[in-house]
Amino acid sequence: MSISTPLRVALLSLPWVLSCADGSVTRCTDSNSTCTLREASEEAGVFMGTTSEGAGWASTEIGTLVETHFSSVTTQNELKWSIASAPGVYDFERADETIDFAEQHGLRARGHTLFWHRLSGIPSWLGDELAAAADPEARLRELMQAHVRAVVGRYAGRIDTWDVVNEPLDVFSGNPAPDSIFFQTFERYEDFLDLSFQLARQEDPTAKLFLNEIFPSINEAKFEGLLALVRGMLERGTPIDGVGFQGHFVVQLPDAEILRQRLQAFADLGLLVEITELDVSINLVNDQPDPLAAQAEIYRGVAAACLAVTACRGITTWNVHDGLTWLDRDPLFAPLGPHRPTLFDESLNPKPAYESVREAFVAALARKAAQTFPR
Ligand code: XIL
Repeated sequence: MSISTPLRVALLSLPWVLSCADGSVTRCTDSNSTCTLREASEEAGVFMGTTSEGAGWASTEIGTLVETHFSSVTTQNELKWSIASAPGVYDFERADETIDFAEQHGLRARGHTLFWHRLSGIPSWLGDELAAAADPEARLRELMQAHVRAVVGRYAGRIDTWDVVNEPLDVFSGNPAPDSIFFQTFERYEDFLDLSFQLARQEDPTAKLFLNEIFPSINEAKFEGLLALVRGMLERGTPIDGVGFQGHFVVQLPDAEILRQRLQAFADLGLLVEITELDVSINLVNDQPDPLAAQAEIYRGVAAACLAVTACRGITTWNVHDGLTWLDRDPLFAPLGPHRPTLFDESLNPKPAYESVREAFVAALARKAAQTFPR
C-alpha cells in the first residue's frame, strides 16, 4: 500500500514519530528532545563510551554519570598485564567491578588491553623472567598463552571487544616500536602479532579482536605503517576484527576529513573501526576567543568522522571528567597541562563538547531517518 501525500506530510510534521524503514523510532531527532548522549548513541547503534576510573568508581557519582550518558565502558587499567603481581597471580577485584557494572547497566564492555609494552601495560617481573630464560621467545609465548587464558578466559562472553595488541608501532613513525619487549624478544614481530590474536580467538571466539594504535589520524607515516601491518595480518589469516584509533589530541589537532578517510581505509579492508581513546587538550585551542566552544567543534568533527563510516562502531573518551584526566598525571604530558580534555568538567557538569557530540549523533540519526523513510 502506498502512502498518500497528505498522510506523509502529516507524519513528517510529527518529528517524534519519524519512523525508519526497520520500524525503529528516531525519538532523538525531535528538536525538543532531551535525549542523553547515551540514548542518541543507542538509537544510532554506535557505542558512546568512556573509561572506568579508580577503585570503587562504579558505586560513586562517577558511576551514575557513566551509566546515564554512555553506552560502553573500557577498562582503563584494571586488565592490563601489570595486574599480575607474579606469573599467574592476578587481582581481578577492580576488573570484576567494571564488568559487573557494565552488565548491571546494559553497557558494552571493552577490554583494554592484553599486550602493551608501555607504562602499566607490562608487569614489573616480565623483563627478569625473560632474561633468566634459556629461550626467551619460547618463555614469552608460554607466558602470553597463560595470560590470555587467565584474562580472556575469565571474562569470555562478557567482554564484547578486546584491544589485543596496543601500540605495536613506534610513537612517531610507521616502524615497529623499538622499545617493545615483544619486538625485542620475538625473532619475527609478525609472529608476536599473530600469536596474540590467535590466543585471544581461541579463548573467546565471540569477542571482537582489535589492534589499537596512537596517532594514525595525525601522522601519515604512522597511518601508512599501520595499514601495511594490518594488510599483512589479513593476508596471513590472522583473526583480527578491527582497528582502534586512539585519539589523544594533545600535541596536534586532527583534521576531521583526513580522519574519516583513514577510518574508511581500514573499513575498506573489511574491518571494523573505532575511536578508542578520545581526549582533546584545551591547550590546543586556548588561543581561540572561546576555547570551550573550539574544543567542542573538534569533538564534533571527530564524532562526525566516525558516524560517516558505516564500519565505525564506537567512540570512547579517555576519562570521564576533566579532574580525572590521565594527561595531567602522565610524565610527558602533565607539564603541558592542565588539559581539561573530556566531555565533563571537574564538577561533573557537561561541557559544550558534550552537546556537540550529542548533536553529531542526532544529525547522523536525522540523515539515516531521511534516507530510510518510505517514499
Ligand atoms: C593510561 C591510563 O589512563 C593511566 O591511568 C595509566 O597510568 C597509564 O595508561 N594509551 C593507552 C592507554 O592505550 O592504556 C593509556 O592509559 C593512555 C595512552
